[in-house]
Amino acid sequence: MIVVRTRAALTEELERLRPLGETLALVPTMGFLHEGHLSLVDLAGEMGGRVAVSIFVNPLQFGPAEDLSSYPRDEERDLGLLEARGAELVFAPSTEEMYPDGEPRITVSPGALGNRLCGAFRPGHFRGVLTVVARLFGLFRPEVAVFGRKDFQQAVLIRRMVRDLELRVRVETGPIVRERDGLAMSSRNTYLNDDERRDARGLHGALYAARRLYDGGERRADVLLQEVFKVVAEHRQLELQYAELVAPDTLAPLESAQDGSVLALAAFCGTTRLIDNMEL
Ligand code: PAJ
Repeated sequence: MIVVRTRAALTEELERLRPLGETLALVPTMGFLHEGHLSLVDLAGEMGGRVAVSIFVNPLQFGPAEDLSSYPRDEERDLGLLEARGAELVFAPSTEEMYPDGEPRITVSPGALGNRLCGAFRPGHFRGVLTVVARLFGLFRPEVAVFGRKDFQQAVLIRRMVRDLELRVRVETGPIVRERDGLAMSSRNTYLNDDERRDARGLHGALYAARRLYDGGERRADVLLQEVFKVVAEHRQLELQYAELVAPDTLAPLESAQDGSVLALAAFCGTTRLIDNMEL
């Protein structure tokens, strides 16, 4: 596995790695890898070509009061995990290398879709995500890019960006990987103390309870969401930021659920912000 830290070295390695006709699948990450990330590396491997991973904690997508400086990092461990999973190329640039001219002047705006759900609480977040992802697409020129459905809105926006800007990359998504008690894996779970960690599983519990109602025939959004509110409220460390039932492509709020509708939520668990979602 080759690790490069500069754009120039990346270009060189890509030329070496990609004889004509071979596909390149890229898995963008912010590092501190867990099984959720690694499942995407596996999925990228199943595409039959070369697998590249980026590790970059992107300052552009963090708000001023958010956890950029404390975001967990362990590059050595990450590289060991990636090597074991068969990644061939890792790009781990510094901020200066990724943004040599400082903050980019031209950025990718998600438009109204970026103000829904998480975007309503994290102004500028998705602009930062789309801008770095577009930049990574430009650097790697991958045929395929793989994202997790854990970050549901992010995946929707990236698909939309690729379509609206004709970026010629196939976007694939992988399912949410969870801990044994249902908590969606996240690099940020490491912030949780024991009490918080115990209650954090209430998020999955709430989504799961609503889905059981759906499976039993309930279709009314307000009833499904009431169930989410109820289960979340049973966990003292959780404070819900939003819970919504939305259409999977447009993120439009729904009054009535159908197969494919998504229940999405964000909550603080202590001081840690967690997100989760479930497709019905
Ligand atoms: P990060 O949070 O490191 O996540 C990298 C990728 O792993 C994303 O596609 C995310 O959806 C996926 N992922 C995280 N947890 C997962 C889980 N439990 N199950 C399945 N997939 C999971 O998302 C980002 O980084 C950044 O915004 C990035 C796209 C790299 C741009 O900076």
